Amino acid sequence: MIPADIGDYRELARRRLPRFLFDYIDGGSVSEATLKANTSDFARVKLRQRVLRDVSEVKLSTSFFGQAASMPVALAPVGLSGLYARRGEAQAARAAAKAGVPFSLSSLGVCSMEEVSAATGEPIWFQLYVIKDRGFNRAMIERAKASGASALLFTVDLPVAGSRYADIRSGLANPHAWTARFERWKALASRPGWVWDVGVNGRPHDLGNVAEAVGPGASTFAFWDWVGRNFDASITWKDIDFIRETWDGPLVIKGVLDPEDARTAVSAGAEGIVVSNHGGRQLDGCSSSIAALPRIAEAVGGKTTVLLDGGVRSGLDVVRAVASGAKGVLIGRAWAYALAARGGAGVSTMLETFRKEISTTLKLIGQPDIGKVGRDDLDLS
Ligand SMILES: Cc1cc2nc3c(=O)[nH]c(=O)nc-3n(C[C@H](O)[C@H](O)[C@H](O)COP(=O)(O)O)c2cc1C
Repeated sequence: MIPADIGDYRELARRRLPRFLFDYIDGGSVSEATLKANTSDFARVKLRQRVLRDVSEVKLSTSFFGQAASMPVALAPVGLSGLYARRGEAQAARAAAKAGVPFSLSSLGVCSMEEVSAATGEPIWFQLYVIKDRGFNRAMIERAKASGASALLFTVDLPVAGSRYADIRSGLANPHAWTARFERWKALASRPGWVWDVGVNGRPHDLGNVAEAVGPGASTFAFWDWVGRNFDASITWKDIDFIRETWDGPLVIKGVLDPEDARTAVSAGAEGIVVSNHGGRQLDGCSSSIAALPRIAEAVGGKTTVLLDGGVRSGLDVVRAVASGAKGVLIGRAWAYALAARGGAGVSTMLETFRKEISTTLKLIGQPDIGKVGRDDLDLS
């Protein structure tokens, strides 16, 4: 199959990955209502079709926190990506650098920040989960600084992992139970290509940024236990002070879905927020990101950089998000599927598809500059 849209990359990823990995990417929490709303609410955002305005040239470029980007898109932090393709984070970061967009590295990536930075030579955005051991967090932020990270994404919507039943069924959660082991072995037996390419030749599978804390050489699956024991549910807005003691670059609060929290993030001095429900993987039944965006943008739009993620599956969605008040978007599953389907080359092709769609959409709404897209481009009838 020649992949054209994200649905095609998703299908190729499904065929290539062991089931426990595909379901981990694809799934959401509980009934997956929010996961579905993230995309279905995008489809409801209508743009005005405007005609006979010179759109022979369109401008897609923008900047995030003083850093130029060729379009208003960044790759979201996605844990375990080094299992979707061999050294997956490094491959995806190279594709992002080639496309001129930022790459965010998860705390729970397989490749360490040092490996990813060395692979691209470009600054990355580093995503931070705060764990109970503040000393370890401090050291992690210092490492991010030394690796040349240009922004710190502080993810705040995961005091505890959401209830993701697909991960129980597939054997990813509850790693030590014999039934779970059996499911994983079954999944591996049906994907020999992945076993050879990533399972054997993509080692080590440690989580590079936290390996020391999890225990070097520990099974990748042990990280679930570690997350359960070490993620800190007692964190509050005050902990931003602790982060600031070590980090003086742009701080972006990821996982804001409420205007009041957005205002608090601004008071706490955040240079940016990501309107996000973690891709429908945390609180099921909460608002989709795109539905929450306009009120948040209205509350804090002029005071901080407002980004959005959740449900962005096309360049058309990028323009919808910008028209609804975001400066840009992060994409999560879109790049995870593309990476699993075709490695770094898949991420490159997918990003170029996004670029073309943004350009085509701008031409069809008669708006030659992404920087000028706004509420006026929405059809609110
Ligand atoms: C497989 C997977 C793993 C993720 N891991 C992380 C993570 O480690 N840290 C984080 O802040 N967000 C993580 N997210 C959430 C993404 O950063 C982003 O918020 C979400 O994927 C956006 O929704 P979308 O997938 O519909 O684009 C993950 C998402 C997926 C799909």
